[in-house]
Amino acid sequence: MSRPARARIDLQALQHNFSLVQQAAPDTQVMAIIKANAYGHGLVSIAQALPAAAAFGVSCLDEAIALREAGFERRIVLLEGLFAAEDVGLIGGYRLDVVIHHASQLQWLEQRPLLRPLDVWLKIDTGMHRLGFDPDRVTDIVSRLQQIPQVAAVRYMTHFSCADELDNPCTRRQIDAFNTAVAAVEGERTLANSAGILGWPAARGDWVRPGIMLYGSSPLRGRTAQSLGLRPVMTLSTKLIAINARKQGDAIGYGADWHCPADMRIGVAAIGYGDGYPRHARSGTPLRVNGRETSLVGRVSMDMISVDLDAVPDAQVGDEVILWGEGLPVDEVAEASTTIAYELLCGVGSRVQFDYTA
Ligand SMILES: Cc1ncc(COP(=O)(O)O)c(C=O)c1O
Repeated sequence: MSRPARARIDLQALQHNFSLVQQAAPDTQVMAIIKANAYGHGLVSIAQALPAAAAFGVSCLDEAIALREAGFERRIVLLEGLFAAEDVGLIGGYRLDVVIHHASQLQWLEQRPLLRPLDVWLKIDTGMHRLGFDPDRVTDIVSRLQQIPQVAAVRYMTHFSCADELDNPCTRRQIDAFNTAVAAVEGERTLANSAGILGWPAARGDWVRPGIMLYGSSPLRGRTAQSLGLRPVMTLSTKLIAINARKQGDAIGYGADWHCPADMRIGVAAIGYGDGYPRHARSGTPLRVNGRETSLVGRVSMDMISVDLDAVPDAQVGDEVILWGEGLPVDEVAEASTTIAYELLCGVGSRVQFDYTA
């Protein structure tokens, strides 16, 4: 038998989560954010399951080309734009939209002849201070863009730094700064990521850009995915490959830094950081075995973890262990591993077998 680590991808849950985007932002177009291999879920399969997305947001040419080569004709937006002047030809050839966030990109567009009409999304830095032009440069940049033959529509975007915190005034300031920056220009607007969609109605604009909520993780701090109606798309599982009786005081795993508090049964499950299960998950991180919640004990190895089976007396070698997903929110595992669901989902490795259920 091959390695039992599996990621089941529930495409109905994905579509359900997409419908929550549409309910929350009914009069907007949706740019589904499927960068980083659709947050680890599989770029092309996820794109195929989102027929109502008006556009896809990706982070680089490779992802965009993979979509075009898989036959997608829809709008594809390169969220970081061009990385070099040479990209101009490919962007034209593959009919991609580009985000323009820096003067160097503008120069590349000005210097290289564009062979086809190109739609541009002008990114404005309203407070995140990562990518984007200062708000007071918008009219200047727009007039330069308008002088470039073949630049067709110009749209406007910004990105929030703290939208997950509903009591943080930063987002309101970013919305106001954006609205002021684009007050004098024509064109569609987009501000909202998942947290913006669910938490900040004033941020809806003409387009919304959901990422994490599509995959069923909560974008809002202090709110569970379930309370927001989101359903998990990925269920990561494996199997028990050993069960051993251990004595009180026995040390478990590398570093021998977890000791059995009593005589107990310890399972070994075939998954580890080589599959994307987080190395820094603490003892006590929740897991499910045979439908019951139990926990990780000891350090995570490359290919294995140890599991407290005291709560699951009927567990047998070969039984399924769920690491996150159905019945166990990835957000809980992320919290116990001092990370975020984004990182866990993106990090699922190529050794894991993906199964898609429609
Ligand atoms: C520009 C942009 N828009 C939207 C998103 C989606 O964000 P989220 O996954 O938080 O919904 C991202 C993700 O990082 C992004 O970079």
